[in-house]
Amino acid sequence: MFCLGIIGIFTLALSKLSAQHVFMERKEFIYEGKAKQVYSTEDPNKVIIFYKDDATAFNAQKRGTVQEKGIVNNKMTAILFKKLAQEGVPNHFIDQLSDREQLCHKVEIVPLEFVVRNVIAGSMAKRLGIEEGTVPPNQIIDICYKKDELGDPLINDDHAVALGAASYEDLKVMYAYTRTINDFLKAEFDKSGITLVDFKIEFGKDANGNILLADEISPDTCRLWDKETGKKMDKDRFRRDLGNVEEAYFEVLNRIS
Ligand code: TMP
Ligand code: ASP
Repeated sequence: MFCLGIIGIFTLALSKLSAQHVFMERKEFIYEGKAKQVYSTEDPNKVIIFYKDDATAFNAQKRGTVQEKGIVNNKMTAILFKKLAQEGVPNHFIDQLSDREQLCHKVEIVPLEFVVRNVIAGSMAKRLGIEEGTVPPNQIIDICYKKDELGDPLINDDHAVALGAASYEDLKVMYAYTRTINDFLKAEFDKSGITLVDFKIEFGKDANGNILLADEISPDTCRLWDKETGKKMDKDRFRRDLGNVEEAYFEVLNRIS
C-alpha cells in the first residue's frame, strides 16, 4: 500500500514534469530572424524559439550585440505573454524551457506589424514633424507591411487586404487584441514606474487558423521611459548610441518581474 503510494506520487510528479515540457528538445533548424532562431520539435505544431543577443536597427544597417539581451527578452516575453493569455489574448507562448528558449505554438506569421503609439516618438515624430514626447489626444495604431526589402512601409487596412496580408475580418480581430494588449501593458509598466511610449506586435495563425499574438514583447519592441526621469530604458539606447544598454534591459526586467 505504502509502496503503491510512493509509485503513484512518483508517476504523478513525472507526468507533471512532462506536462511542463522539460523533455522537449530542439530538432531541425527552421528559420533565423534578426534576434531569434526557430527550431522544430517532435510535435509538428510546436516550435522552440531561441533568443539571441544580436541587435540590429534601421533595417539591419546598424548591427551589434547586447550582452544577455536574449535572456532578458525571453524572460520578459514569457512573463507578459502568460499574463496576456489570462487577459483573453491567445498567444503562441507555451512554456519557458531555459534562459534563452521557449516552447511555442507553431504559427504562420501575418506579414503585418501593429504599432501602438501612446506618446509620439521615433518614426512618427520624425515623419510628421511632431516633438518627441507629445501625448496625442487619441489612440494611434499604425500597421506596417513586414517586408525588409521595402523597409516595412506604413500601410492602411485596404492595402493590407489588397496585399493578401489579412482579411478585413482578421484585421478587426487583430485591432481588438492590440487595444486589449495596450490597456494591459500600459497598466503593467505604469505599476513599475515606466511609461509605455509605443510598441510593436505581430500576430500569426496556428494550424487551425486561429489568430495568436506571436513574436515577442521586450525592450527591443517597446519604447519604455522612466516615469520620473524620462530615462530611455529600451532599444533606443542601442539605436541612438546612448550607452548602458544592458543595464537598462535588466532594469526593465527586474521592475516587471
Ligand atoms: P518606430 O517609431 O521606429 O516606428 O517604432 C515604433 C515602435 O516599434 C518602437 O517601440 C520600436 C518598435 N519597432 C520594432 O519593434 N521593430 C522595428 O523594426 C521597428 C522599426 C520598430
Ligand atoms: N528591428 C529593426 C531592424 O533591424 C529595426 C529596429 O528595431 O529599429 O531592422
